[in-house]
Amino acid sequence: MGTIIGTSQDVISFLKEQHKEVKTLLSAVGSTKGEERSNAFYELRRLLAVHETAEEEVVHPAARRSLPDGEAIIEARLAEENEAKKALAELEELDIDSTEFESKFATLAKDVIAHADAEEREEFARLAIKLEPERLDRMRRAVELAESVAPTRPHPGVESQVANIFVGPFAAMVDRARDAVMGKH
Ligand SMILES: [Fe+2]
Ligand SMILES: [Fe+2]
Repeated sequence: MGTIIGTSQDVISFLKEQHKEVKTLLSAVGSTKGEERSNAFYELRRLLAVHETAEEEVVHPAARRSLPDGEAIIEARLAEENEAKKALAELEELDIDSTEFESKFATLAKDVIAHADAEEREEFARLAIKLEPERLDRMRRAVELAESVAPTRPHPGVESQVANIFVGPFAAMVDRARDAVMGKH
């Protein structure tokens, strides 16, 4: 038991907070139009790129090794994450105010929420019991490094080194996030 307990969030609460932010952005995209929707969609993609990459590099590998049925659970989560990446790439090609965007986005929103709920129920809750607090704290710091390259609310139009990392199609955002996470932990 380390002194860290009680002074900082562990990886589970950190990722659950991000799930809440994802849900907020999903409803923002669904309930706005035009530039507002485009900004919310940009923020959503940036957050998902960082969040899913951190899970894939840090949390899923730990769950795969530590949980008795970890292999099957993580295969299911990775399949959902890949589906979401494909859907986001398709959405990027559409006119943001078209009915096609709206119906495709509604499906994505439903799937992403189901994915997050499955992670919390089958993966996070069990990791929280299974792993030592020190381990959960180390994992949080690794995951937080992804946040450090993508602050929560950059202005989409701002020309800065940080903003530039996340400009471009979703696949490129994921690549950059992965480089950032892998380079630092
Ligand atoms: Fe995920
Ligand atoms: Fe997640």
